[in-house]
Amino acid sequence: MPSLFFRDPQQEYPVIARGEGIHLIDEQGRRYIDGTSGAGNVTLGHGRERIADVLRQQGSELAYCFSAFFTNRPALELAERLAALAPPDLNHAYFVSGGSEAIETAIKLARQYHLLRGKQGKHQVISRWRSYHGASLAAMSATGLPSMRSPFEPLLADFPHIAPCYPYRCELGCEGVCHLACAQQLEQAILDAGADNVAAFVAEPVVVAGMAAVAPPPEYFAEIRRICDTHDVLFIADEVITGYGRTGRHFAMEHWDVDADIILFGKGASSGYAPLGGIVIHDRIVEAFAREQAFFAHIFTYVNNPMAARVGLEVLDIMAEEGTVTQARDTGAYALQQARGLLSRHSCVSEIRGSGLLLGIELVGPDGAVFAPEQHVGQKVAKMCLQRGLVVAGVTATDWGGGDDLRFYPPLIITPAEVDEALDIIDDALTHLEATG
Ligand SMILES: Cc1ncc(COP(=O)(O)O)c(C=O)c1O
Repeated sequence: MPSLFFRDPQQEYPVIARGEGIHLIDEQGRRYIDGTSGAGNVTLGHGRERIADVLRQQGSELAYCFSAFFTNRPALELAERLAALAPPDLNHAYFVSGGSEAIETAIKLARQYHLLRGKQGKHQVISRWRSYHGASLAAMSATGLPSMRSPFEPLLADFPHIAPCYPYRCELGCEGVCHLACAQQLEQAILDAGADNVAAFVAEPVVVAGMAAVAPPPEYFAEIRRICDTHDVLFIADEVITGYGRTGRHFAMEHWDVDADIILFGKGASSGYAPLGGIVIHDRIVEAFAREQAFFAHIFTYVNNPMAARVGLEVLDIMAEEGTVTQARDTGAYALQQARGLLSRHSCVSEIRGSGLLLGIELVGPDGAVFAPEQHVGQKVAKMCLQRGLVVAGVTATDWGGGDDLRFYPPLIITPAEVDEALDIIDDALTHLEATG
């Protein structure tokens, strides 16, 4: 029988008919609080008529023109707006259809930048274990999640990986207080590979897909920047999920006051209303292309797409009018405080972290040790939450000796009362877990 190919045939997928604000509503009329903003992208919530209107309008004016021959006004304007939001020397943008395309683009741009400067050997990209940079093959080569990489290992580029900055379970034994041994691994990895072979280092400011809202200490990225500069390695900040206000700043790197050479964005750039991602680029990379009169040997059909760019402009207008970034910061602080008050009394909750509207809740067994991975506790709790009307990501790590957690990253428009409603559901699910095991 012809049908959709489902990623997980064991799973039931409710058919969602519509969305309103922070809610998704299925064909039976059941409402779910969208506690993961879709895939972390629907930052402004569902059912925004204004964005639907600009899609209709742009579609009837100009849905497409090929970026190899033409440009278009929405893409030109969006590039200007992004340059104003990015650090002072990052003044150029290139738009693609999502996060994976953004990192493919950044890796190839970094490689060509070094070639243009006569550095023929520089091609490797160093990244961190427990990172997620996307599903395509170069993105997966940088990704540091063995369970996602292993089926495709023969197809992946041989990129070096260093330790993540994860003080809660530090593999370098920092016992909760980071002394930057993890950052210094970057220098060692560059020396091991040979600085002449390393093009770039990529990291997420706050890790979401591979760990539960994990952010490094204030000194971490300054040390990373120093190491990259010493060895002529570009620093790529993967802000695909942290960008556009999630952490209470437009770009999360603002928390560290360190500028990357290339910023990746996606997700919230369109709030889910069009496939949109891209990169913001440092002037000196663009100048290298201009100096050598070189062209970037990389393009996708939907580069600088006018429909997506028009949505991107509307998203930035709404964010400015509604003060979305400040709202994310304030509601995020409230959510963290409430979560700590309400959930830390559960013996299965060992740590609660937050960064803007992004909460990570670490779960442990009655003896304080991690649950056995085959118990799938994180996934079980997420399922209980879904039955109670809340979408939350529940993860059971199968690598690094396991570990379960919950991740809550709702639309940035969520109100404090809605936060309370969501946390009550998590509270109830954890009570149920403790009662039933
Ligand atoms: C940090 C990060 N980078 C890249 C990606 C890949 O983005 P996409 O799924 O839009 O290709 C994701 C997606 O979750 C992400 O979280």
